[in-house]
Amino acid sequence: MRFPNPFVLASGPPGTNGKVIKRSFSLGWGGIVCKTISLNNELVTNVVPRYGKLTDRADRKKVIGFQNIELISDRPFELWLEELAECKAEFPDRMLIASIMEECHADRWIEIVERTQATGVDALELNLSCPHGLPERRMGAAMGQDPEMVEEVCGWAAGAATIPVWAKMTPNITDPTEPALAALKGGADGISAINTILCIIGINLETLQPMPTVEGHSEPGGYSGQAVRPIALRQVMEIARACPGASLSGMGGIETAEDAVQFLLVGAHTVQICTGAMLHGYEMISDLCTGLEAFMERHGFETVAELVGKSLPCFTTHADLVERQRAARREKAGTSNRDGMWKGDIAAETDSLVTD
Ligand SMILES: Cc1cc2nc3c(=O)[nH]c(=O)nc-3n(C[C@H](O)[C@H](O)[C@H](O)COP(=O)(O)O)c2cc1C
Repeated sequence: MRFPNPFVLASGPPGTNGKVIKRSFSLGWGGIVCKTISLNNELVTNVVPRYGKLTDRADRKKVIGFQNIELISDRPFELWLEELAECKAEFPDRMLIASIMEECHADRWIEIVERTQATGVDALELNLSCPHGLPERRMGAAMGQDPEMVEEVCGWAAGAATIPVWAKMTPNITDPTEPALAALKGGADGISAINTILCIIGINLETLQPMPTVEGHSEPGGYSGQAVRPIALRQVMEIARACPGASLSGMGGIETAEDAVQFLLVGAHTVQICTGAMLHGYEMISDLCTGLEAFMERHGFETVAELVGKSLPCFTTHADLVERQRAARREKAGTSNRDGMWKGDIAAETDSLVTD
């Protein structure tokens, strides 16, 4: 697959129909993963409200984190097939990736793979990671949390596919490398990570009801946006180390070129953005491209490939950090911050230990 730039709109509202996909391509996005589709849209019923925001205490307009309890696309499969074919025909040089999801039956997965790839899309992303609603039907994260099922489903999909297959991982798991390795073993060509993190965005202190509130009730949903970025970076880094050679698409809280570059540095080949585009608009792509170019120029990188995984060798274990610190005779740094020496100016003392 050849991406004109590494910026891909992640599956979700940004790629919710053919019209917005075309608009995004014309604004310069290198790739788009459409909203997840399934063979039978009649099983999908969304609720309103289905989003919740966590905002900065000092500036309520600044969104730190975002919850959704949205399901996959509620639009008919046949309509999607027409629109995917149209989008690809109109933008042949952009990467169009179809996100697909089905129940755990070989014939369902084979059918959705064969019919979707016939539209001419460049790749398929298997949604094995939606954390709410669909796990009740043993779909989404219910599959992604079970490495055996991941391997089996990827085997069905890859066996039927003539185009690359990416498996999208759930972060709601202890060791994200287990399902990633299972996906590759099953035949997937690439890994996308992460989907949203299970959360409760808050409780309304007037009504005492959880949010987003639907008829007085709610359910845990998926957390995304800035707040999840450190968690996503860790998971992408671990998957990159465990799966050398696999194509890796990283996401979770990317809003700026600087955010995106960090995912590339820990091993992602492309980056995806969902919440950032929902909050800042599709036009953010021009700042992303300009910011990436400026970063590359500043460091003398000529291609994006040169910076992929550049920071990976710097990750090690705590024991090794201690050993390196000793070996480098940085005793002052090692001994001047012993717990017993803290005097009570805790903010300054914390600052002195934070990485720059
Ligand atoms: C409102 C909303 C709907 C989403 N729908 C889907 C979906 O249909 N399929 C999917 O694979 N991921 C879906 N996601 C997850 C995103 O693609 C992405 O994995 C996650 O939000 C982390 O990236 P972000 O912080 O850039 O949003 C959705 C996310 C949001 C916020």
